[in-house]
Amino acid sequence: MSESNEIDNLLHESRRFPPSDEFRAQAVAKADLYTTADADPQAFWAEKARDLHWHTPFTQTLDWSNPPFATWFDDGELNVAYNCLDRHVLAGNGDRVAFHWEGEPGDSKTFTYAELTAEVKKAANLLTALGIRQGDRVAIYLPLIPEAVIAMLAVARLGAIHTVIFGGFSAESIRDRVNDAEASLVITADGGYRKGRAFPLKPTVDKALAPDEAGQATTVKKVLVVKRTGDETSVAGWQEGRDLWWHDEIAQVDSEHVAKPFPAENPLFILYTSGTTGKPKGILHTSGGYLTQVAFTHKNVFDLKPETDVYWSTADVGWITGHSYVVYGPLANGATEVIYEGTPDTPHPGRWWEIIQKYKVSILYAAPTAIRTFMKLGRQIPQQFDLSSLRLLGSVGEPINPEAWVWYRDVIGAGKTPIVDTWWQTETGAMMISALPGITTLKPGSAQIPIPGIAIDVVDERLHSTGPDQGGLLVVTQPWPSMLRGIWGDPERYVDTYWSKFGPTTYFAGDGARRDKDGDIWLLGRVDDVMNVSGHRLSTAEIESSLVSHPMVAEAAVVGASDETTGQAVVAFVITKASHADDAAKDDAAAVLRAHVAQQIGAIARPRQVFIVNELPKTRSGKIMRRLLKDLAEGREIGDTTTLADTSVMTAITDTMR
Ligand code: WT7
Repeated sequence: MSESNEIDNLLHESRRFPPSDEFRAQAVAKADLYTTADADPQAFWAEKARDLHWHTPFTQTLDWSNPPFATWFDDGELNVAYNCLDRHVLAGNGDRVAFHWEGEPGDSKTFTYAELTAEVKKAANLLTALGIRQGDRVAIYLPLIPEAVIAMLAVARLGAIHTVIFGGFSAESIRDRVNDAEASLVITADGGYRKGRAFPLKPTVDKALAPDEAGQATTVKKVLVVKRTGDETSVAGWQEGRDLWWHDEIAQVDSEHVAKPFPAENPLFILYTSGTTGKPKGILHTSGGYLTQVAFTHKNVFDLKPETDVYWSTADVGWITGHSYVVYGPLANGATEVIYEGTPDTPHPGRWWEIIQKYKVSILYAAPTAIRTFMKLGRQIPQQFDLSSLRLLGSVGEPINPEAWVWYRDVIGAGKTPIVDTWWQTETGAMMISALPGITTLKPGSAQIPIPGIAIDVVDERLHSTGPDQGGLLVVTQPWPSMLRGIWGDPERYVDTYWSKFGPTTYFAGDGARRDKDGDIWLLGRVDDVMNVSGHRLSTAEIESSLVSHPMVAEAAVVGASDETTGQAVVAFVITKASHADDAAKDDAAAVLRAHVAQQIGAIARPRQVFIVNELPKTRSGKIMRRLLKDLAEGREIGDTTTLADTSVMTAITDTMR
């Protein structure tokens, strides 16, 4: 289906789901949130910030005198980990479960708030013993095991900065991130479990930290290794003096640790994400404003009752959803959650539903890709499990098509749970657009309205609001507490990327959107060269440069083609070098290049298809017209080719694709 058809279908979606009286009566969010926030957004956020524990209360809310550089609650001091841990124990909730962790092989572990606090205190002492201080960078490359959460909170507790690198990323990706952040410590594991198999992680770290061709080492001094799989071959590259076992070290440290206050604007983490160039951006988030907005949205959007709910976000901590809605939001709210290490279909396709049944999950937060995959497998799989504990469903990462939305509600939500479709980004730190359950009448396919206290507009190129049902660009017109504070080490790129298109007070999100007659917002996908595959962001430029780095490749163009399951899929068009014509002629050239990208960046970047072509469509100035390649990749009639330098190119490419 072509993109414009999809958009038309979306706009004709007419199903409406008003909140039930029952849900409304018990909902956390009340409609006055909007009126209070509208009246004075800064006072609103200040009030929400005061729900946290401040060692030193703030007196200033927002400083926006030097846009786009903002500070929130600047003269206040807090400790993020204390807010997620000690505070709940001191309030008498130490026996409440913080999380039930489920390993892929079926092992499991439960941590109460008291137990998690104790573990984080020990880990903080361990990191201190290893020399970690406020502002130091710690890279975390772990499977989704309890130590991932413990390590993040321990780093936060010390006022240091974590940069979590998704366990699927390659050695090169780790190296780039470690170098950019100048990390002094890496926390990893021997391996993890995925798709029923143990996979190694430590060898990838060894490779990432090895001196490069120029003999240049990284800034990493120590590597802490969690034993997860026990696979000896994973630790064959052990370096005495550099590598340490987590379990050995943690056994030797003191169990008491007093959390010190840090300024509200103390950096909390750097999370790398793809942009429109080949170099990933280190998105920087700080403490007080970030925690305020993640806690507020987690509570109100998910209607959280910490005493009774069991919340499960299926995201990995390697992505922003894992930071904001697995670690910081839920734990700041004293929630009980489920954390699952593995893949949804291991050892059987009902694993997710089995987990929901086992822990009586009441709130589920998942990605549309997963929902569409389950939809394809059929409702008979979830129907074998008791899902009656579910009372709210969430969606994130990409637009959820109305068909998947309705299936999600009918099959998983017994035809009655509200669904919140939450729009946000790594950069926004927390949710920005979503329905509030119990208040909003739900519309399948639309992310709906800004969160209270958030100012969003859909505009044309001249920053004029577009009329009802007219497409435009999504912008945020007021600063918000959890906004990114910058790109690590590159203030210029921060300004250029997000705050230059419309001036320094308007944040340009990179998404196209449309507002309907009711004021509900429909997201229409990225307007830049960023792809969204299974809710994960990939850059066309990054994959192109990976392809071009292969000796066989002369030129490459990558597009995100719409894909029924993953939203978009990576499709590459490649010209091979004449000198490698023989290699390229081999049937497996495409397979070699797909593997090359997976090896260089990570499996999620592996192209769905690689087409070896003789030419690429270019304008007279030599710019590749990816729009036309996208038409081809999506099997659509090719659009306007009049600006092509050579109009016969498209026919030639179509021929080679056959
Ligand atoms: C991009 C951000 C937010 C955490 C996961 C992705 C797309 C995100 C939605 C949604 C339509 C969405 C946007 C955005 N996106 N949520 N509910 N509806 N599109 O974080 O990797 O920073 O990607 O994901 O295109 O810009 P991310």
